[in-house]
Amino acid sequence: MKPAQMERTPFADLDSQPSEMTAMLLAALEAMGRHPEIRRVRQTAMQAMRPQPGERLLDAGSGAGDVARWLATAVGSAGEVVALDSSAATIAAAVQRHDGSNVRYMTGDVSAMTLPSDSFDGVWCERVLQHVTDADAALDEMIRVTRPGGRVCLVDTDWESLAFDGVPARLAGTVVTHMHGRLTPWKRDMGRTLRRRLISAGLGDVTATPVTCVFGDPASAAVVLPMVNPIVPEEAWATPPGVRDEWFSYVDAAGARGDFLAILTIWVVTGRVV
Ligand SMILES: C[S@@+](CC[C@H](N)C(=O)[O-])C[C@H]1O[C@@H](n2cnc3c(N)ncnc32)[C@H](O)[C@@H]1O
Repeated sequence: MKPAQMERTPFADLDSQPSEMTAMLLAALEAMGRHPEIRRVRQTAMQAMRPQPGERLLDAGSGAGDVARWLATAVGSAGEVVALDSSAATIAAAVQRHDGSNVRYMTGDVSAMTLPSDSFDGVWCERVLQHVTDADAALDEMIRVTRPGGRVCLVDTDWESLAFDGVPARLAGTVVTHMHGRLTPWKRDMGRTLRRRLISAGLGDVTATPVTCVFGDPASAAVVLPMVNPIVPEEAWATPPGVRDEWFSYVDAAGARGDFLAILTIWVVTGRVV
């Protein structure tokens, strides 16, 4: 596969997707946000970041804005949360979901923000760096806009940790290898690199927590894992050509027996700007 083919992920440029695809991806983001395992990841990040009343926080790559609105409840009316996303369609969707909390929505590229330096007490960036071409440049921007003593909280997936049980190992290996081949190397292992990136960038008090998400049935897994979601089109990266029907028959059979298992580690890494 040519590098150019690998580099485009739908989330890297949502606005260039057909409108139905953008709507499907936004609905997927919201469903993920309601999933108990993603909520567990976010609780871990919230405990690491410890937002305080009156703080000014940035949600970089804010998607539909759920986390920004959650952070707003923590900073209260004396604080403010800026929800920034590169996709105008996504920001429009987030504005539609606005609940009156202290969130300001704006479009912008996390790698080149128009926001002033040292203007935030903390930055949250969840499942975004895997979609940008230069994660360290984006991280430098997040550090630039954070005041000394403020926190940067990164959340990202380690797609290389994805594993299945209850389905034939040969077939699971084929599906996982196919997915890895569709992803850029930095998207595959972004989660586990976050600690190193924050240390290299000079942040202090770096903490790194791997949260291993456990999916005990196909329906639960399908919310987060496209290769077990039957509504994700094959061409949208999910399963290798020619094995889709066989794969889903084994996934469904494991689900019916009750022994389907998928695991995926998402990392929560926080550091303090010095
Ligand atoms: C997988 S979604 C995660 C959204 C949200 N953080 C969440 O966890 O629900 C990735 C988001 O990052 C945004 N994004 C991708 N590249 C970006 C960039 N360079 N600058 C800002 N946002 C970006 C996408 O538009 C999308 O909303």
